[in-house]
Amino acid sequence: MKLFDVYPLNDITIEKAAGAYVWDDKGAQYLDLYGGHAVISIGHTHPHYVERLTAQLHKVGFYSNSIKIPLQVQLAQKLGAVSGKTDYQLFLCNSGAEANENAMKVASFYNGRKKIISFTKAFHGRTSLAVAATDNPAIIAPVNETDNIVFLPFNDVAALQQYFATDGETVAAVIVEGIQGVGGINVATASFLQAIRNLCDTYNSIFIADSVQCGYGRTGKFYAHDHSGVAADIYTMAKGMGNGFPVAGVAIAPKIAAKHFMLGTTFGGNHLACAAALAVLEVMEQEQLMLNATNMGKYLMEQLQQIPQIETVRGVGLMIGIVLPPHLSHIKKLLLEKYKIFTGEAKPNIIRLLPALNITQKEADLFLQALKAAVTTA
Ligand SMILES: Cc1ncc(COP(=O)(O)O)c(C=O)c1O
Repeated sequence: MKLFDVYPLNDITIEKAAGAYVWDDKGAQYLDLYGGHAVISIGHTHPHYVERLTAQLHKVGFYSNSIKIPLQVQLAQKLGAVSGKTDYQLFLCNSGAEANENAMKVASFYNGRKKIISFTKAFHGRTSLAVAATDNPAIIAPVNETDNIVFLPFNDVAALQQYFATDGETVAAVIVEGIQGVGGINVATASFLQAIRNLCDTYNSIFIADSVQCGYGRTGKFYAHDHSGVAADIYTMAKGMGNGFPVAGVAIAPKIAAKHFMLGTTFGGNHLACAAALAVLEVMEQEQLMLNATNMGKYLMEQLQQIPQIETVRGVGLMIGIVLPPHLSHIKKLLLEKYKIFTGEAKPNIIRLLPALNITQKEADLFLQALKAAVTTA
């Protein structure tokens, strides 16, 4: 059998990883400011993470959700404490798309409605409703098309108010990223998120904060939506949660009551996944990684803003978009091939920085030097 060819691949095989670095099979070292797509939150192969996962594997790796798994309770408590949402309820699953699917189901179960409001340039995943709520017709199969999703312009309070004024009673939920990742690092304004909160309260709709990419401390607060001072009814999270181990979560406000079998999963919340997620939160606390994300994000943004070839720098904390003019759209490739630095991108001309939250100033400086050299010589 061969692989189903769904990704254009870089011709690189990574064999070793530590902290902010990875090494290929020929021994070349790369600086990783992409974090395997915002997944590596506490650095590659962090010793505490390796130790906790290894110890857990020696005890029990998996048993089904038909028994008590105290690690899930510990994780819910720790996540509640670190995120400041101590009274929320945690449903554990395996991926960002699955978290969003479950969030939209919970909303619809809660108020009995069908319409979900999503926004231009949104990305919520590749499965059923999650992909239908994603603003990219190229990845929506005919079977995923549904009238239950309504797209409104991002950051447009008036359009949102207008929709609710006529159809508010049909809205099950509004789903929104605090910072759009795939869409090109577009930050939701505080007034926009506050309007979503107010309208959801008025019309008994559910506010779903997709925190899959922008959450888990990346912006210096636990959820990017926290910067606007509003609380969502449901937060979805994945990527940084397990530092590479597949684990995702749906944090659900106390006003939404669970019923048996309303949600379910085979693998979600298994022993290893919980150990990985707990290790991440422990390191985040011990090493004050949200503070580091704030400080290093500020440093990087300030330095980037001084590079004249860059059109715009957007983002918060360690979720940064560097908008380049069209003639420099090859810089991401150059950074990888010549300077051995992994970065992310939003096509065609935005470099996305999504490093681990414990990136140091030395590593940030290595990147800045390389970027300056790349844009000057290009
Ligand atoms: C904001 C957002 N939501 C959902 C997803 C889907 O997550 P997953 O690929 O784990 O299904 C992503 C993935 O990039 C994302 O960025």
